[in-house]
Amino acid sequence: MCGIVGYIGGKQAAPILIDGLARLEYRGYDSAGIAVIEPGSALIVRKAPGKLSALVDSLKGATPEGFSGIGHTRWATHGSPTEANAHPHTDCSQQVVVVHNGIVENYLALKEDLQKQGHPFASETDTEVIPHLIESYMTEGVGFEEAVRLTAQRIQGAQAVVALHVKDKGRLVAFRLGNAGGITVGYGNGEMFLASDLPALLPYTSQVAFLAPGEMVTIDAADARFRSIKGPAIRKYPQAAPYDSVAIAKEGFRHFMLKEIMEQPSMVHRAIGGKVSFEPADVHLPGFPFTDPQVREINRVVLTGMGTSLYACMVGRTYMEHIAGIPAEADNASELRYRGPILDDRTLVVSVSQSGETADTLAAMEEAARQGAKQITICNVEGSQSTRMAHGTVFIGVGPEIGVASTKCLTGALAALYLLAVRLGKARGFLNQGRVESLLNDLASVPRLIGQALEQEHLCERLSQKYGDAFNFLFLGRGINMPIAMEGALKLKEVSYIHAEGYPAGEMKHGPIALIDKSMPTVALAPSDALHDKMRSNIEEVKARGGKVIAVVTQGQHDLADIADDLIEVPLSPYLVSPMVHVAPLQLLAYYFAIKRGCDVDQPRNLAKTVTVE
Ligand code: M6R
Repeated sequence: MCGIVGYIGGKQAAPILIDGLARLEYRGYDSAGIAVIEPGSALIVRKAPGKLSALVDSLKGATPEGFSGIGHTRWATHGSPTEANAHPHTDCSQQVVVVHNGIVENYLALKEDLQKQGHPFASETDTEVIPHLIESYMTEGVGFEEAVRLTAQRIQGAQAVVALHVKDKGRLVAFRLGNAGGITVGYGNGEMFLASDLPALLPYTSQVAFLAPGEMVTIDAADARFRSIKGPAIRKYPQAAPYDSVAIAKEGFRHFMLKEIMEQPSMVHRAIGGKVSFEPADVHLPGFPFTDPQVREINRVVLTGMGTSLYACMVGRTYMEHIAGIPAEADNASELRYRGPILDDRTLVVSVSQSGETADTLAAMEEAARQGAKQITICNVEGSQSTRMAHGTVFIGVGPEIGVASTKCLTGALAALYLLAVRLGKARGFLNQGRVESLLNDLASVPRLIGQALEQEHLCERLSQKYGDAFNFLFLGRGINMPIAMEGALKLKEVSYIHAEGYPAGEMKHGPIALIDKSMPTVALAPSDALHDKMRSNIEEVKARGGKVIAVVTQGQHDLADIADDLIEVPLSPYLVSPMVHVAPLQLLAYYFAIKRGCDVDQPRNLAKTVTVE
């Protein structure tokens, strides 16, 4: 979850490290720190609890000088967000300095051993065992790079580490174990970079290489050498980075979240553009790995993910059933991995992950691989771990998503799942050509429909003023829009810290209705579809108990005008694509509620963009 950067070259390292950390703050912002080796070989470590701005303020303009260094922005796991627990961490002699992402699962045993050997510890973190282990190998006469490699073999759990040694300031050594986020190597002209994620590197280089689990790299100002943690050298060459830095700037929007909500029409258009053709109507998924006979063997689809990606899976379940004609289920990855699921080579496991690095999702994929299931991942980050683990990938293709609250990646993932279902349905003979054409026409209308739904931005802002003092919200939906109600509640919780629950509307009478009073507003998704009358009954039930209702309705549909307190009108949308449209006003409501309450929209408290720990 933490962000890591490293630099070595002819320029001052500290400004580059701080700039890189600013681009990675979405990974964690509990504390930040940098370590730079000065030309006289003194190690300068500066760290501060809180956001990166607190570190910058604490430097008071006295930025450490030196041409190699490492930096870190932390999402706390072991130890509270204090200065002592902030990274980088050093050994006893202040010679080895380390930044770390992930969890050292056996740190207690290692710490006990090291303490017995006389190593004092200055923090409550698991990380601190790493520099001490490197130091203990070096005191036995082992060189720095080899000491890092041996340390990588001693620690357990998924993690990424970058280490620097004062007497070896011309090199940075990094390794990756398991799936706790990656290490990307950036190639410059007479300078080299390391980072946990691409956005930190893109202003400096477009040539990158990725470290796979079990690999390590040593960089100097000119090049990178890769090897397996087990020992043998590995050949790896730089490749063009998949994103450009312009695409990740805010482009005049106040927050990334608002930018990413508002760019959904163009991004979804871009995402489906290259995958669909119309004469004849067809779907082209370049990363789809199975032959038609293999597809016909599939007798069940299990969709899995976490958070917003799980809600995408729940909509995707309907796509698999209605479009592909295959029995489907959707399961939270953190539950699936431990439940002892029954999977086999006739099961298609579809994992959904914006980042492709979510620990629970990757663990569920590992379980699926162990049981021989076919696997496809729906992912937005090229080269990420889930894309390497699955047999094939459908890229979401909506450009980098920086806001911690996922928005455009949900609509993009839904479009990808829809296309996957059409591809499967066609191969299975479940869809005739006419149905394929009509499904793809419906999908092609989505960018326009989302654009129209986003025209409700000012209404959503006004509603945030009207209801912004409520402490609790209920979100209700039915059918394909039920997961969207859950997503609406998640978005509101994440960015505005208002307690919200998303429920299937039919469940309301079985408990949640007890909560309803005039202080708990309900957001009801009640478009003109086959379940509209059922939703109207639920809305009546809320009103009968004095509750306030904001109803999301289809434009021109007036039957709720006298019942609901407020209406958000969205364009009439084909049922199967309607979740991509109906989610837009819920995203805007969450955004404007957060603004009204003065919350930090792009960096909500306690969250990180990518959850690389269990
Ligand atoms: O990168 P992933 O899609 O695997 O992430 C899954 C969740 O952590 C993510 O959707 C999270 O719930 C977001 N903060 C939601 O806005």
